[in-house]
Amino acid sequence: MLIDTHAHIYSEEFLHDVDEVLQRAYDNDVKKIILPNIDSGTVKRLLDLNDAYPHLCFPLMGLHPTSVSADFREELEAVEYWLGKRSFYGVGEIGIDLYWDRTFLKEQQDAFRYQIKLAKLHNLPIVIHVRDSFEEVYTIVQEEQDGTLQGVFHCFSGDKSEAQKVIDLGFLLGIGGVVTFKNNQLAEVVKSVPLRHVVLETDAPYLSPVPKRGNRNESAYIIYVAQEVAKIYDISVREVAEITSENARRLFRI
Ligand code: NI
Repeated sequence: MLIDTHAHIYSEEFLHDVDEVLQRAYDNDVKKIILPNIDSGTVKRLLDLNDAYPHLCFPLMGLHPTSVSADFREELEAVEYWLGKRSFYGVGEIGIDLYWDRTFLKEQQDAFRYQIKLAKLHNLPIVIHVRDSFEEVYTIVQEEQDGTLQGVFHCFSGDKSEAQKVIDLGFLLGIGGVVTFKNNQLAEVVKSVPLRHVVLETDAPYLSPVPKRGNRNESAYIIYVAQEVAKIYDISVREVAEITSENARRLFRI
């Protein structure tokens, strides 16, 4: 069994064939899919999918850093409302993204810290989005780590010393399609990390692994990530599936 720990299958890209996409995932041994939220505009489709596939689709609640702008207080109120109203498996995705825009850095930091506090309050793990922002994210997580905080650095793409910092925080590394790309530095970094600190993810519809690169990504393609990770550690795909699924099950309590 494989677990896709990060997929936006509820997004518009899947509007017309989400049932087929989920069937393909299931047929390819992807038995659980974690769905991180983006913002108040995606909640309905996220929850509809959870209602339709309660044993396959596990929702997270959170405000994505690229959706943090001047109105972020209202967005956070929505996150807080939903966390009190329904069952979620984590808070995400949250974090800091400085790739596109630094305008709302302060707001992104505030929103991140606030949602970490919500995660602690609800005793939930967090799924962190980091883009050109490792130091900013690391500083906050380190300050907030009181021994109870757990989570994933999703789509991890840092170097060996950053990987070690993540592990020392007690967090897992989310590894996806990037590890299959030609000339990527990530394989060497992954090799330096014991597999018990790794979970697999697609980030569908983005970041399709080779040989699907350039196409819309979907959860069934996580097998290509698992195969690459098996090559890196020189172990069987079955072993990769077992260990990373156990890591994911333990973290998200699924
Ligand atoms: Ni994502």
